[in-house]
Amino acid sequence: MKKNVNRRNFIQTASLAAAGFYVMPFFASCKSDTSTRHPETVNKMNKDFIADLDLQLTALPSQTNIYPDSSTKTYSYRASIIKGSEDNLQNIEGSYLGPVIRVKKGDKVRVRYENQIPAESIVHWHGLHVSHENDGHPEHVISEGETYYYEFEVMNRAGTYWFHPHPHKHTGEQVYKGLAGLFIVSDKEEEKLNLPQGEYDIPVVIQDRTFNDNKQLQYLGDGQMDRMQGFLGEQILINGKIDNTLNLGANGKYRLRLLNGSNSRAYKLAWDNGEAITVLGVDGGLLKAPKRMSYLMLGPAQRVDVWLDLSQQSENSRIKLVHLPIPLDMMGGGMMNGGMMGNSSSNHLPYDTQFDILEINVGAFAENKDAQLPGELSSFNTLAATDAINKDNPRTFTFAMGGMMEWTINGRTYNGTEVAEEETVKLDTTEIWRINNGSQFSSDSDDDSGMMGGGMHGNGGMMGGQGGMGNMMQMPHPVHIHQLQFNILNRDADKVDDKLWEATKDGFINEGWQDSVYLLPGMQMDLIMRFEDYKGLFLYHCHNLEHEDMGMMRNFKIV
Ligand code: C2O
Ligand code: CU
Ligand code: CU
Repeated sequence: MKKNVNRRNFIQTASLAAAGFYVMPFFASCKSDTSTRHPETVNKMNKDFIADLDLQLTALPSQTNIYPDSSTKTYSYRASIIKGSEDNLQNIEGSYLGPVIRVKKGDKVRVRYENQIPAESIVHWHGLHVSHENDGHPEHVISEGETYYYEFEVMNRAGTYWFHPHPHKHTGEQVYKGLAGLFIVSDKEEEKLNLPQGEYDIPVVIQDRTFNDNKQLQYLGDGQMDRMQGFLGEQILINGKIDNTLNLGANGKYRLRLLNGSNSRAYKLAWDNGEAITVLGVDGGLLKAPKRMSYLMLGPAQRVDVWLDLSQQSENSRIKLVHLPIPLDMMGGGMMNGGMMGNSSSNHLPYDTQFDILEINVGAFAENKDAQLPGELSSFNTLAATDAINKDNPRTFTFAMGGMMEWTINGRTYNGTEVAEEETVKLDTTEIWRINNGSQFSSDSDDDSGMMGGGMHGNGGMMGGQGGMGNMMQMPHPVHIHQLQFNILNRDADKVDDKLWEATKDGFINEGWQDSVYLLPGMQMDLIMRFEDYKGLFLYHCHNLEHEDMGMMRNFKIV
C-alpha cells in the first residue's frame, strides 16, 4: 500500500490551520520548534519532468547471507526500473547493499523512494549537486509506507557517488543495517579514456561490522564511550560480505571503485606486495593525471578509484589490499575505558595492527589486457584563493567537543532547520572555509584554555585533567559538505600528533574535487567552494555517523 507523503502533511496543515495556527511558509525561520514536521513540504511527482531514468527504490527489512551459511537480518535498498535501461542498475549479488545506479551526466533522474522500514527515513545523494528538495534533508523524513519523489538532473562530473539514509539521530543505525548504495556517473570526457568497463569496473564497498553469536548484526554496546568514539567493528565486509575475495584475471586491467562505507572507521590502505596504489579519481571524479601513492588514507564516506594492473601477476597468485597500522586507538580510548562512561564491550579491530581488507585471487587470463592507463585523465580548472570573497578572512568552523560531552561545530549542535548568521552564504560566490579539528583543545597546549570548550575549563576535576579528557577529545572528524564539491587549498598539520602525522602524511590526496575530508586531531584545512544554482538549506557535518547522530551536524543556507 502506497500513500503519498502529502496526505499526512496535508492533514497536519489542515488541523493546524483549523486550530487557528498560522502556518509558516517554507523556510520561514522556525528555530525553536523541531518537534513538529514542517507542514509545507511539498513533494509530489511532477508530470512535466521527463525522466531518462525513472526508478522505484524501496528501503525494506531483508535477510542476507553475509556469512555464507547463515542468514542475518538487515535492511536493504531494492530498485526496479520504471523507465531506463538495464545498464542503469547493477545488483550486487546476494548483498544487503543497494544496487549500483549508473547514469550519465545530463540524465534526468526520477527516484520514487518508498520507505518500508519501520522507522522514519529519507535518502541523501552523497556528493551530488542537487536542490534542497532533492538532497534528503532530515526535515524531509517520511514514515513507513510513504513515498518521496526525487527529480533531478545529474550535473556532476563522472565519478563515484553514493546514497544512504539521513534521518536525524538514526543515520548510523540505518546505514549499519545495510542501507547504502553506489551512484556512478559517467560523462563524455571519461568515455574517451576507454577506462576498464563492465566486469573490469568493480565496486569495492568497505565496511566494518560486529556480529553476535547468532551471526546477527550488533550495533553499539551500552557504553556511552562507543557512541562518543563512533562505531568500530570486529570484521571487515567487502560489498556486504564476509568473503572478501575477488577473482580477477591475470594480466587484466581493472578500475576498483573504493567507498569507505563504514560508520566511523578510517583505513590506511596499501597493497601487501609493496607496490604503489595508482589513484585515478576521488570523491568528485577523475584527477588530472593518475597519482601513485605508497599508501592511501580513506576516511568515512570518501571514495577513491584505483587502477589495478595484473599484468605482472601469474595465474594462481594472490595480492591483498591491507590496512596498515596507525596510532589512533588511544585517541578515543584512554580514560574513557576507565569506568566513568562504562566499559566498552567491543573487541573491535585495533587501528594499530595490520589486517586484510581485500584479497585478489588471480585466475585465468583476462580479455582486456591491452587496456592502457592514460597519462592524462581529465582537464579542469580548480578554484583559486583569489576568487574567494573571504580570502582574507575565511569562514572558520571548529569541530570539537562541547561543554556537555557533546560533539559540536563552533559550539553548536544540529537543531532542525536552524541556521546561524555565520552559516549563511551567498549564491554565486566563492568562499574559503577553514575547518579545524578542535586544535585549541590540544592537550599539548600549555595554557588552561578550557579543555571542555568553556564551562568546565581549568579545573580538571571530574573530567580527569589533561591526559584524560584531553585525549578523548582528540578524535578525527571526517568532515563532509553537502551539495557541492570543493578543492583543498591547504592542509595544516602543525598541531597534529607527530607520530600520527608521520604514519599518515603520505596517504592524503589534496588534488581534485572532493566532498569529504578526514580531519585528524589538530588538523586544519582550507577548502574552497562555490555556491551555485540552488538556494536553500544544506548540511555540513561530521561523517562519523555516531557523531552526526549526536548532533555534530549543521545547516548552511545559500541565499
Ligand atoms: Cu553521506 Cu550528509 O552525508
Ligand atoms: Cu552528503
Ligand atoms: Cu566527528
